Amino acid sequence: MEYKLITADHFERVIEHLRRNFFADEPLNRAAGLCQHGGGNAELEHHSLTTLQDQLSIMAVDVRKDSNSYGQIAGVILNGVLRPGDTEQALEKLQESTDANYKKIFELLYGHSLQVDLFARYNVEQIFDVRILSVDARYRGQGIAKELVRRAEQVARKSGFQLLKADATGIFSQKILCSQGFQPFSEQLYAKYTNDVGEIILPVEAPHIKLQLLTKQLNKDTQ
Ligand code: ACO
Repeated sequence: MEYKLITADHFERVIEHLRRNFFADEPLNRAAGLCQHGGGNAELEHHSLTTLQDQLSIMAVDVRKDSNSYGQIAGVILNGVLRPGDTEQALEKLQESTDANYKKIFELLYGHSLQVDLFARYNVEQIFDVRILSVDARYRGQGIAKELVRRAEQVARKSGFQLLKADATGIFSQKILCSQGFQPFSEQLYAKYTNDVGEIILPVEAPHIKLQLLTKQLNKDTQ
């Protein structure tokens, strides 16, 4: 397996990988019924492309599969730069969305993030934001996600970040991030995320029970 920074010439193939894997499989997308396997979602694709443009994302490529000269994308980690005010702005923009399911998911993610000011809490001006972790179903259980997280940290260090953050929506991503030294910062139980009449907004399937915001601080001395 080869691990490479994702450059603009690979963006379309990465989006195709996400359509076949992440978009339908990620626990919140599944709960909201965001899309079918292989199907696209305009807003999630826009979110992914915006993140890719920060040039901090990595892909795992199976070079043995030479159906084309690039090999097969086995997994990706999409990371972006988060600056003060970004989440507030994104939440405001979300109100214009016409995709009710996408809105449900991102209202939870942005609302949860806004409960704490990580910039003030850690005294940083930018955060390395781990936004999407996805491994092709045919390659799961081989440690690829763990390796993608490990390499993302190397990119963050090289780029001078002092803090990494992730919103992990399922038990496996939570476990993977913790194994790489991330620490749970705050949580939201899905069963307690309800509307005005007490109905659960996102009925996420077991074994996933909560959203977890995790952080990892990088020591300035070891950069
Ligand atoms: N069942 C049981 N254990 C699992 C599973 C599973 N389905 N998936 C991962 N694990 C465990 C592994 O056993 C391993 O634990 P160990 O080190 O104690 O043996 C650990 O998690 C690491 O597993 P990896 O092999 O590195 O994970 P993998 O490459 O299979 O990818 C991922 C895991 C990314 C969650 C994949 O299942 C996936 O793409 N799911 C759909 C999308 C998704 O939910 N992404 C995360 C959302 S949160 C976010 O994006 C920030």
